[in-house]
Amino acid sequence: MEPRADDDRQRWAERLFGVRQVIDREDSREEILLALCRFLRKEIGHYDWVGFYLVEGAPEMLRLGPYDGAPTRHVEIPFGQGVCGLAAEKRRALMVPDVSRVVNYLSCSPRVQSEFVVPIFADGEMVAELDVDSHTLDAFGEQDKEFLEAVVEAVAELFKKN
Ligand code: SME
Repeated sequence: MEPRADDDRQRWAERLFGVRQVIDREDSREEILLALCRFLRKEIGHYDWVGFYLVEGAPEMLRLGPYDGAPTRHVEIPFGQGVCGLAAEKRRALMVPDVSRVVNYLSCSPRVQSEFVVPIFADGEMVAELDVDSHTLDAFGEQDKEFLEAVVEAVAELFKKN
């Protein structure tokens, strides 16, 4: 029998392959991002809400883009607010194992217990964020981090101008 770790690695590799297939579709960016949210939420049991926030300038703001999961009232998030706004301000990924411990948390559903936000950079600019919520406490680990970093790198291609 194969060791479990190899099975696991294989599964994440297949998921990434699936992501690349979605990204390579001949659709609009909007449609591809939505398809990607649906794919990730369906494929990965602990991803209960998957969405993109798009960066807007002057004043710097995150605007809700395509997503899959429960509707959220947080359609505009100023930089610095909540986990998404903080990640945008710091321009780095934020993994939150227990959202109840975040002081200015912007809750989109009382069922969400952990969250992972990864900024997306294209042509040297932060253009968007990928936000994943889970109904499981401490749901995200090293493999989610590696996987989602690879996902946003692939997604960045859709935003590049050159
Ligand atoms: N929880 C996020 C807001 C977005 S919703 O989860 C969809 C935050 O604190 O920034």
